[in-house]
Amino acid sequence: MIQPAKAFSNAFYFIQKGMASLRRIEEVLMEENKINDVSDAIAISGFADKIELRNVSFAYEDATVLKNINLEIPKGKKIAIVGGSGSGKSTFIQLLMRFFDVTDGEILLDGKNIKTIHQQDLRSLIALVAQQTVLFNDSVASNISFGKDDNPQAVQQAAVLAHADEFILKMPLQYETNIGDNGVKLSGGEQQRLSIARAIYKNAPILILDEATSHLDSNSEKLVQDALQNLLKDKTAIIIAHRLSTVQFADEIVVLREGSIIEKGSHKQLMQLNGEYKKLVDLQQL
Ligand SMILES: Nc1ncnc2c1ncn2[C@@H]1O[C@H](COP(=O)(O)OP(=O)(O)OP(=O)(O)O)[C@@H](O)[C@H]1O
Ligand SMILES: [Mg+2]
Repeated sequence: MIQPAKAFSNAFYFIQKGMASLRRIEEVLMEENKINDVSDAIAISGFADKIELRNVSFAYEDATVLKNINLEIPKGKKIAIVGGSGSGKSTFIQLLMRFFDVTDGEILLDGKNIKTIHQQDLRSLIALVAQQTVLFNDSVASNISFGKDDNPQAVQQAAVLAHADEFILKMPLQYETNIGDNGVKLSGGEQQRLSIARAIYKNAPILILDEATSHLDSNSEKLVQDALQNLLKDKTAIIIAHRLSTVQFADEIVVLREGSIIEKGSHKQLMQLNGEYKKLVDLQQL
């Protein structure tokens, strides 16, 4: 009698556990998505010309976080966005990815309002290294490929470029090692390099980096920056960085303050302008 009784209580335990998981999965699945495709959403397959923001304003709730932003990002250019904490840099990115819809104005991709484009198509054009890394309780390899046709060779190549290969090879199961919930088993810098590897693997025409190297020490930052330079060569890139020395190469630097663009130009132009940007650069050289 003991064995079957044990089996029965075990089974009961698993049913309870399964029910709890099911409830959580249901919660996620039932979560209402506020950003929806319009019924006649356009399918797009590439990025040809430019991204354009026209009089874009945005408020999460009451307070306006971005005010009347006008900006053109031509294909192939590298645009840096700088400015103090809370000036609206990450918000700008969220709007480009259409995680939120603009409150006013419009964002156009090759002349099409992004609200009219299939979300999936829009996002497939953009590789994002977000300020907060999002990793899954899964293997290193799956975290890099993100479910996009697992190609072990390409995964490894991306990891090498992101200088993640070094620490991955030291892990017990290497690319098959599980990294825990949101990568808890990794250091901040390691998590960041995994996210960079993921962006490299995605190989999208537009690359967005939000403080992508902020958790790295100066030495690794230099290495990863070099790798990114290579990667950026034939891409359109939007780069957010606090450390201004890492964005001097940008074709255009956009300075945000309290949600408005206050200066715009190359590093050289902005230094000559002797305004906010120069002040920030001087401060960081102290
Ligand atoms: N999800 C949100 N809901 C409400 N307010 C938000 C949300 N995200 C950001 N904010 C607010 O919007 C403003 C701009 O935030 P944002 O994250 O764009 O700043 P940031 O320039 O990226 O700053 P940092 O350099 O610290 O990353 C801040 O005042 C912030 O409190
Ligand atoms: Mg930010």
